[in-house]
Amino acid sequence: MSFALSTLRCTSALRNGRWMAATAPLVRSLKTTSTANMASASEQPLKKDPIYKTFEIYRWNPDKPTEKPYLETYKVDLNNCGPMVLDALIKIKNEQDPTLTFRRSCREGICGSCAMNIQGGNTLACISKIDRDPSKTVKIYPLPHMYIVKDLVPDMTHFYKQYKSIEPYLKQNTPPTDGRENLQSIEDRKKLDGLYECILCACCSTSCPSYWWNQEEYLGPAVLMQAYRWMIDSRDQFGPQRREKLQNKMALYRCHTIMNCSKTCPKGLQPGAAIAKIKLLMATE
Ligand code: SF4
Ligand code: F3S
Ligand code: FES
Repeated sequence: MSFALSTLRCTSALRNGRWMAATAPLVRSLKTTSTANMASASEQPLKKDPIYKTFEIYRWNPDKPTEKPYLETYKVDLNNCGPMVLDALIKIKNEQDPTLTFRRSCREGICGSCAMNIQGGNTLACISKIDRDPSKTVKIYPLPHMYIVKDLVPDMTHFYKQYKSIEPYLKQNTPPTDGRENLQSIEDRKKLDGLYECILCACCSTSCPSYWWNQEEYLGPAVLMQAYRWMIDSRDQFGPQRREKLQNKMALYRCHTIMNCSKTCPKGLQPGAAIAKIKLLMATE
């Protein structure tokens, strides 16, 4: 279409001397640009020397149950790869080993599915930058103390069951009289900041030694922070009942304020502090 337009303009330029004079520099500059483009197309792109980084990745295949888990080594040229650990994993899967298995979806720290243990810390692969020092190996394991489905994929069934157990939704005895929206003041809405942003990646729970040893009964920091989120929502009317359910030795009080959870949260949230606030509410009730 732009070609047709320029042809039309050239024709009218021939017919109209004044217009042609005004557009002549433009035509000249178009010619110069296209000559420059041809010159640059023949130039060689700058080639950077490869930087080979070593990745050691946990492998386990449920179809070969007699084989023990092991670490597999891959080398990736960082000058030919995106900057994040997830970029390297995708590159390895696409170009070297299609059997490597991991979860990912959003690639921007929102879905929580790429949670794994990288260099000893639980985090999200998609927002973890690769250290460009080739002498340092990157070690990647699945989230610790979880049953493994395959390679870097943990079984999240129990974690989601625990999340479901806290009834993570608005509960009311008396809904709004007009049958419409639940209004909330700006101040009350602010109380949810630092809580609602949780993406349920489970990095915090799987970094907590209490959760490692008592996972069956202790709810863990991620789920407890969501319990607190509903307790302090001004629109929810079941705070006391929610706390009552935690009145036992295991569900809440297995938190010993170790604080690994807050240290590791890739979203910068403070589940340890939320647990402390639940304990305070329960102590003063
Ligand atoms: Fe993940 Fe942080 Fe939520 Fe824990 S609190 S589940 S680490 S986002
Ligand atoms: Fe565990 Fe965090 Fe409590 S690491 S013990 S949940 S403060
Ligand atoms: Fe969604 Fe990493 S891919 S958080």
